[in-house]
Amino acid sequence: MTAYAHITGWGKAIPERVLTNRDLQRIVDTNDEWIVARTGIRERHIAADYQTTASLAVDASLKALEVASLKPAAVELIIVSTSSPEHLFPATACLVQDRIGAKSAGAFDLLAACSGFIYALNMATQAIRSGSVQNALVIGSETLSRLVNWTDRNTCILFGDGAGAFVLQASETPAGVLSAIMRSDGSGGELLAIPAGGSRYPTSLETINDGLHYIKMNGREVFRFATRVMAQATQEVVEKANLTMKDIQLIVPHQANLRIIETAMRNLEFPMDNCIINLDRYGNTSTASIPIATCEAIQDGRLKPGDRIVFVGFGAGLTWGAAVVEWSGPFPGLHKFRPARYRLYFRFRSFLRRVWRHIEAIIWGRHNPSI
Ligand code: COA
Repeated sequence: MTAYAHITGWGKAIPERVLTNRDLQRIVDTNDEWIVARTGIRERHIAADYQTTASLAVDASLKALEVASLKPAAVELIIVSTSSPEHLFPATACLVQDRIGAKSAGAFDLLAACSGFIYALNMATQAIRSGSVQNALVIGSETLSRLVNWTDRNTCILFGDGAGAFVLQASETPAGVLSAIMRSDGSGGELLAIPAGGSRYPTSLETINDGLHYIKMNGREVFRFATRVMAQATQEVVEKANLTMKDIQLIVPHQANLRIIETAMRNLEFPMDNCIINLDRYGNTSTASIPIATCEAIQDGRLKPGDRIVFVGFGAGLTWGAAVVEWSGPFPGLHKFRPARYRLYFRFRSFLRRVWRHIEAIIWGRHNPSI
């Protein structure tokens, strides 16, 4: 029996603090008119000190699980797509797993930059379609404001923080993720990169003095690449689903630059009115931009069960990808469940596990002094 991966839950988490273009004028040599004309961005949200990539991911996930009426304990797979993980390891997905009490889930991070959410959606879909898992939590979460050089006007105007999450569940009804493509071209890796902090250039006084832990970007080249692949990937993924552009009601593109999106829609001869745009209020939230924009489309009544939509994105790597989804919504007849109410319980559970590990270490340490 073929299993289809339906998107049955969704949620977003946006930091409260807003940084407008006019605020940026006070930090770097730029102005509101330039930023709006070249990018379409007017403001972005910046994480507070207490917020992290994992905490935003947890907030978005609990909302998504509530929509899907799925208990965290029943989640089988967690994929966090991020370019701003909390650590090199452990994976941010494991932090999320612990904080939402997803005790039956495997958890890993996926790094495909701004295309990451599409890659993660496809990986989760394949895990469901193969019968390996019955459900998955797919999260895009970023705090890129912590990796941006706030004296570099070329990059600091673009990025914002936020998270979005989808719950995917298996069903025999044909719908959900109908097709997906993933592409990459590593020869363009240096066009958008954080050069240091990994094993190639471990952190040193030199890498810090040279500013190699910040985002470096060749904006013009990334722009050229993006305008080329967005329309191409959309056409390809629609064909792969045995559909034509006439069958598509909505496109949710990666929210990087309004000019890139307009060029792509023009090339596809697809009306801008049927394309979700929210980059004016959020900037580029990287891998979180597609799920955040989808949540807003649902909130605004622009996405209904039965609609066919395309997610399409591009990013560092270089990577790009697209997916066609037939929207279904939550499975009917499920008991309402509010996972956010269990936050304290999840914390307590995590605390108890740590204490128990400590006790075990003492017991084992006594019996096995060599360990
Ligand atoms: N404010 C004012 N002027 C700025 C500026 C800023 N924030 N940033 C650059 N400029 C200046 C440049 O110095 C340059 O001046 P010069 O002609 O005197 O040298 C001029 O504006 C034009 O710069 P250019 O880089 O050609 O601008 P652009 O039209 O390509 O726009 C980007 C720059 C970054 C907005 C654009 O290239 C872009 O969006 N690229 C894609 C980036 C992206 O999406 N990255 C994320 C991928 S997921």
